[in-house]
Amino acid sequence: MIEMSFANAKSMYRQEFITADRSPHKKLLFKLAVTIFFAVFASQTSFAFQAITQDAATQTDDVKTAIVSIDELMANMTLEEKIGQLNLLTPGGAVTGTSVSKDVASKIAAGNVGGVFGIRGIDRVRQLQEIAAEQSRLKIPLLTGMDVIHGHETIFPIPLALSCSWDMELIEATAKAAAKEATADGLMWTFSPMVDIARDPRWGRIAEGAGEDPFLGSAIAAAMVRGYQGEDLTSPTTMLSCVKHFANYGAPEGGRDYATVDMSQVRMHNEYLPPYKAAIDAGVGSVMTSFNVVDYIPASGNQALFKDLLRDRWGFDELVVTDYTSINEMTAHGLGDLQRVSAMALNAAVDMDMVGEGFFRTLKQSLEAGDVTQAQIDAACRRVLQAKADLGLFEDAYRYCDAERGKTDILSESNRNFAREVAAQSFVLLKNEEKTLPLKKQGTIGLIGPLADSSQNMLGTWSVSGDAKKSVSVMAGMKQAVGDDVEILYAKGCNISDDPAFAKRVNTFAQEIVISDLDADEMIKEAIEVARKSDVVVAVMGESSNMSGESSSMADIRLQPAQRKLLKALAKIEKPIVLVLFNGRPMTIKWESENMDAILDVWFGGTEAGNAVADVLFGEVNPGGKLTTSFPVSVGQIPVYHSMLNSGRPYNGDGDAPKFTSNYLDIPNKPLYAFGHGLSYTTFEYGPPTLTQTEINDGETIYVSIEVTNTGDRAGTEVVQMYLRDVAGSISRPMKELKGFEKIELAPQETKKVSFEIDQSLLSFFNSDLEFVAEPGMFELFIGGNSVDVQKLEFELK
Ligand code: BGC
Repeated sequence: MIEMSFANAKSMYRQEFITADRSPHKKLLFKLAVTIFFAVFASQTSFAFQAITQDAATQTDDVKTAIVSIDELMANMTLEEKIGQLNLLTPGGAVTGTSVSKDVASKIAAGNVGGVFGIRGIDRVRQLQEIAAEQSRLKIPLLTGMDVIHGHETIFPIPLALSCSWDMELIEATAKAAAKEATADGLMWTFSPMVDIARDPRWGRIAEGAGEDPFLGSAIAAAMVRGYQGEDLTSPTTMLSCVKHFANYGAPEGGRDYATVDMSQVRMHNEYLPPYKAAIDAGVGSVMTSFNVVDYIPASGNQALFKDLLRDRWGFDELVVTDYTSINEMTAHGLGDLQRVSAMALNAAVDMDMVGEGFFRTLKQSLEAGDVTQAQIDAACRRVLQAKADLGLFEDAYRYCDAERGKTDILSESNRNFAREVAAQSFVLLKNEEKTLPLKKQGTIGLIGPLADSSQNMLGTWSVSGDAKKSVSVMAGMKQAVGDDVEILYAKGCNISDDPAFAKRVNTFAQEIVISDLDADEMIKEAIEVARKSDVVVAVMGESSNMSGESSSMADIRLQPAQRKLLKALAKIEKPIVLVLFNGRPMTIKWESENMDAILDVWFGGTEAGNAVADVLFGEVNPGGKLTTSFPVSVGQIPVYHSMLNSGRPYNGDGDAPKFTSNYLDIPNKPLYAFGHGLSYTTFEYGPPTLTQTEINDGETIYVSIEVTNTGDRAGTEVVQMYLRDVAGSISRPMKELKGFEKIELAPQETKKVSFEIDQSLLSFFNSDLEFVAEPGMFELFIGGNSVDVQKLEFELK
């Protein structure tokens, strides 16, 4: 037997998931075909057709050769059955909201349900699918959904971490792998990607998105949609993707989840909408509404947002689903009773009602009262049926119920190897004084901290189907990596938090924060003894998995007091300390950044987190991740992001800001770690950038190029970033906007030339009339390895 090296095995696996053909997927073609007709050949699988032959007044004679369109199917549906298709229920299993649905099986049998979510496993899914496809009058199969957010059972790094890889092929491949696993588990619809731009790390759901930038966020949105949906949605290994949460959900006041969002249309169009649009342009099959208000109207009933923008302007004619009970919540928003808000949602061109059953309970009456029209109900029903047709469900309702696949496709060794590779790519080396990292495989290492031996906290938020017991802790990963070469001494040192009330709230889903019976001082003492005996300390600290995520906002984003106390005690021992930080959000770590020798931000790396941490700590893998979200100096600095406006009294310096400029008296304006920042074990040098022309005339394209050299002694990856600034416009424009990036790999001493194309579309933005325009005038171009250390050029758009 030929032994494949670990590295080879990993990259081969990665190839398997990377689609070579980047052409627009075939979904559209397929869809056209299905829209016109879907052929029904075998009576055993002809669910919709069977129904018609059994029950409809008007039927086709020849069962074997009949062609039944969605129109024909709908012609045979009662009003109740049409409204039933708009009803999305969750029978309980993976509970992701405030309530679960009742009497799901009997509602399915009565034709009152269009889809279910939050259940998994072929047997369970099949049980419900059988009721729909065999017992209901029209035998219309169900959609089966789930939050497959960063992997299914094999959990990849949280989305914020994934974004720090800046590697679109890798990200696409994770979605593809997740779809392959999820579809082997009975699922066909994922509520992902979440593409909400977020600039407030107090908001726990910052963990679920791609960070602060719309340009990068758009590229990631498209990559994930491609990964989930592939070239052919009817393939049993691809699934329908759902981009969320439309719109602006990532900007709640005070970072408090579900709270008010209020922003200008200009900001919304330039900075918040692009990733949703990118997902749509990539062919996403569904969109989810958001919980927040947009211009004071809750998104789920917002006509301007859905009917005018999404449907009419963007031409999106696919499925729109609400977020969890968000129609019902419009009552609490102050928009009226269920009858009224449900009609509002349908009037806004929303199709499917998640869990709340507002449509189910009220639409018939609203139709009679003239508050909604039959055409609106028909349009919504048609879009649900179309999604089912796109997935091939009318040809085979059990397409995603192949029990055999479950045995090989889920949590396989190759999936785990891939997850390990991906996790290492997502880590960001924030600081590395005196080359503290990589660690040598010798001597004694003091492994200290409440997350050092915690497989419970490797997966991060929204790992609904992940099993924490199957994840690799940092301790296990490090021990595996060093064998007998290194002595690893361990001390927990402190609890993640000492506050029982806080721990109880965080531990809603699992015992993430375990408060030890040991006295806090005793724990610190033990840790100090370990540190004294060690050559280097690896302190593994930060947040537990669900200290970020939905309904997990935090007002104080420092390390918890118990951890700060431990770290301060350790710092006095005068041993080199590497802080391995687990977090679902940027944290305020000013003291740590001043006192630690090295800081490796590992977010939540997923099933293979511990192995990946060991790979990077010991230098098997050279870290290359770059921040996609700025780290504030303190909470008071929020929001801080690279694309801020300049203001009329800017202060962009480092020292004492002059009076009457825009600044704080007590902290600097600049973030602690800027967008795009991330170190490597090697070093890169940038040559002088050059432009092919310093003027762009109508329709022209210019190019900026720069040479990057690996000046260190080991191979590494670098993300070359290009930013633009429109110096004088009809509206105030950001100081810097990311407009290009490329991740390159360089051998020691190797030089590569990177070029970016600049044309008018790249310079365009939404003006105050919401027209997408490029305005003539001077532009500044910044290029470098992060958003701060850049070289500047200028050009003019004529
Ligand atoms: C979340 C969505 C999620 C849905 C279904 C909601 O609470 O906001 O992101 O997809 O639940 O689980």
